[in-house]
Amino acid sequence: MYNIAIDGPAGAGKSTIAKLVAKKLNFIYVDTGSMYRSLAYACLREGVTQGEKEKVVEVCRRSKVELSYENGAQIVKLNGENVNPYIRTEEVSSMTSAIAVYSEVREVLLDLQRDMAKKCDLVMDGRDIGTNVLPNADVKVYLTASVETRAKRRYLEMKEKGVDISLAEIEKDIEERDYRDMHRDVAPLKQAEDAVYLDSSDMSIDEVVNAIIALVK
Ligand code: CDP
Repeated sequence: MYNIAIDGPAGAGKSTIAKLVAKKLNFIYVDTGSMYRSLAYACLREGVTQGEKEKVVEVCRRSKVELSYENGAQIVKLNGENVNPYIRTEEVSSMTSAIAVYSEVREVLLDLQRDMAKKCDLVMDGRDIGTNVLPNADVKVYLTASVETRAKRRYLEMKEKGVDISLAEIEKDIEERDYRDMHRDVAPLKQAEDAVYLDSSDMSIDEVVNAIIALVK
């Protein structure tokens, strides 16, 4: 199977880019962030707070996360329920990076992600795909952009959805999340040695997509 791993910080454009690359190659797109987000949502829904590690792990272990595809769009299911509409809030984003530091939580998803890569040609995005989940991926990309650019992109995305949040709040959230993701002990976000570094601050979506396609042999 042919596997493309795309890692990078929040708002770097990974999901937009990964989706387009997958479409062009007729590969499946796997958004691992949405899997972590579903687990965070499960915890929030049960009133478990991020510091209650035992409870967090217990909820995650008994939650069933599945990715399915309907009309070409990826749907993430939590215990059979489509939770796509609930997992993109700032509250869930913050809870996600808080529980993603626990190795027991990461283990719940690791085999699932590796299994998918064994069965399908895919583009998988996340934080630890090239470094940890798929160390033998055929193509690895570390996609980033300046904090200002990333916050602005997320701000426009939220505004389009009608969410009332300031650019400053988003910038703060992104910085906190990046710090936590890069400094955790288990599978921190970092560029894999053999990953191609792409800074998308001054690149169009098409330019980034084409740069990645050019790496595919
Ligand atoms: O879309 P955005 O970049 O804001 O976030 P995401 O890709 O949906 O990931 C949300 C959070 O999940 C990240 O901040 C990480 O804490 C965690 N995550 C992770 O630890 N490992 C992954 N492979 C993917 C996401």
